[in-house]
Amino acid sequence: MTPPKLLVTAALPYANGQIHLGHLVEYIQTDIWVRYQRLIGRRCIYICADDTHGTAIMIRARQEGRAEVELIADMQRSHERDFAGFDISFDHYGSTNSDENRQLCHTIWQSLRDANLIVEDDVEQLFDPEAGTFLADRFVKGTCPSCKSPDQYGDNCSKCGATYSPTELIDPVSTLSGATPVAKTAKHLFVRLESLHDFLDSWTQSGEHLQNEIANYLKGHFLGKPLRDWDVSRPAPYFGFEIPDSPGNYWYVWFDAPIGYIASTWQWCKKHNENLEDWWKSDATEIHHFIGKDITYFHTLFWPGVLHSAGFSLPQSVHIHGFLTVDGEKMAKRKGTQVQAATYLKHLDPAYLRYYYASKLGPRLDDIDLNLTEFANKVNSDLVGKVVNLASRTARFIESVGLAPEYPHDGGLFASAASAGEKIAQAYEQLDYARAMRLIMEIADQANAFVENSAPWALKKDPTQQVRLQEVCTIVLNLFRQLCVYLAPVLPRLAEQCGQLLQSPIEHWNDSQSPLVGSPISKFEHLLQRLQPEKVQAMIEESKAEAAPLSETTPSTEVTAAPQDSGDALAAEPLAPVCTIDDFTKVDLRVARIIKAEEVPEAKKLVKLTVSLGGENVRTVFAGIKAAYTLEQLQGRLVVIVANLQPRQMKFGLSEGMVTAAGPGGTEVFLLGVDSGAVPGQRVH
Ligand code: MSP
Ligand code: ZN
Repeated sequence: MTPPKLLVTAALPYANGQIHLGHLVEYIQTDIWVRYQRLIGRRCIYICADDTHGTAIMIRARQEGRAEVELIADMQRSHERDFAGFDISFDHYGSTNSDENRQLCHTIWQSLRDANLIVEDDVEQLFDPEAGTFLADRFVKGTCPSCKSPDQYGDNCSKCGATYSPTELIDPVSTLSGATPVAKTAKHLFVRLESLHDFLDSWTQSGEHLQNEIANYLKGHFLGKPLRDWDVSRPAPYFGFEIPDSPGNYWYVWFDAPIGYIASTWQWCKKHNENLEDWWKSDATEIHHFIGKDITYFHTLFWPGVLHSAGFSLPQSVHIHGFLTVDGEKMAKRKGTQVQAATYLKHLDPAYLRYYYASKLGPRLDDIDLNLTEFANKVNSDLVGKVVNLASRTARFIESVGLAPEYPHDGGLFASAASAGEKIAQAYEQLDYARAMRLIMEIADQANAFVENSAPWALKKDPTQQVRLQEVCTIVLNLFRQLCVYLAPVLPRLAEQCGQLLQSPIEHWNDSQSPLVGSPISKFEHLLQRLQPEKVQAMIEESKAEAAPLSETTPSTEVTAAPQDSGDALAAEPLAPVCTIDDFTKVDLRVARIIKAEEVPEAKKLVKLTVSLGGENVRTVFAGIKAAYTLEQLQGRLVVIVANLQPRQMKFGLSEGMVTAAGPGGTEVFLLGVDSGAVPGQRVH
């Protein structure tokens, strides 16, 4: 009987932020499992998508002055590029903002209605009269009702830990507009989870689908009492799908996001002439979700409830991992430890991180720490020192003769490594990658001891030892290949390079079970470089610069080139009086990228620029450069802006800074440029 095929998902990343090393724990963990399954010959597809709906996206699009669909399209491109850079082998990467998803939401909603699971109730929420929108908890700040600390978010107090609803805050302020929000009542739609209590009890507690600690947590925190109704609608304005039988209301992002797993599978099915029901409504498929512990509730209570009610397959497993810390602390933009995927890739090989995460990941929920010193040491001592070195110390010696015609006597090394394959496979299967890496490195240690004892470099020099040299190299290269097979789920590029070197591609786990003999080998090419610790530091520094520690109250700016008379420029504008370095540093000049340049129809000289200072820091600046530049020339270029200039309210909007330029004005305006290599947010000294 063929084992069930596998449908594997990782959580759908939010489209309101870039992929960082924390996210990658999950996409790499999942990718390793998927590649392992494919390597042992199981049919397995890896499905993901961008999670595109919700208030945060709507607000961000507004701030950037563009449509949500434009913003999410950009984000999707950037996410896909990052994932490709880390060799994440998705079979399909979709979007929750798709026709397929809308259609599935409709169908599933109808099933919930039919099962009488939807109820309506009034909800009081804060509303921002200026921005014209209801405010999610973190868009409201005010004084803690409990300890009276000012400047606390709408859901809990960072000083005393009290939790409350945003309507209880004292002197609440909308972080969107600064306006005082008003409490407003609106109708919301709820899923009556309690009706599914028995089902959820048995599904979560069966011991088959969840890690024990998760099952216990659910029992202790949720299932011991009646389940609360789940609020799945939001009143307009909201970026998402409108609920067909409740006009003006939208599905809350967490309703349509997991349905995105099915929608993305559907898109894949359409491309490959497959039937969706074979994947989501059939015992011939096992579904495996991989997620982080922060989104446990959605995936282990609500989602199984929805699937069950709508007649879809339940996941075989929800595999939950812990959170990434860097050098023992929560990632922090300010410290440069919240490193974006793209920033990492500018400095370091993705194989390093894939291996390091593998060496730290186990089947449990523990957080994993990226210790930057250990990271460099481990990569260099294990990957370069123990694995790659096997090939680099032997392959060249037998370039001309190839592998020995018969596998030489090796004292049982190959056979013992072959039999370790089973334990390694089991470790991968059970998500105990740390154990798999330990077992693999034990084999590597034995192979290296053999190299030391056989000293091929000495044999090379002795003309009577050339047969022995070929034998030794044949043994070592076969052990190397075995290691590459075992590491293939983690290090696909290394496995591929090994296939090229030995002219025999690694295609199956069983390639580890029999040695290659009598075949030619290719010219040795560099496999994996040593990790240079300076590059880790450079990456952290660049991340710090991206975080651009500008004043917290993110002002807006104006970019105006001061009009001057032309002629002898220095004569026309004599030098200003001497200033001290302290005077100079009061002006915070930053590199910024113009992400959007727009006409201001009512203004003769101005263009409206949306500039990015890196990360989430985006501002609007009006600049008097309309006569000198076309919008296309501006779009995408780097400029230098005065980032701490007092924001200025103009007729057309708030200007949050000033773009620097030389020249008298009019058509004679010359924007300051920056040499390539600079990144948005870097300070100009
Ligand atoms: N959009 C939701 C998931 C919807 S799934 C139907 C979401 N997105 S996210 O971008 O915030 O996170 C995506 C995944 O990355 C989540 O599983 C989350 O747990 C994981 N991680 C985000 N930051 C992480 C760390 N610092 N460490 C480990 N995993 C992290 O949640
Ligand atoms: Zn408090």
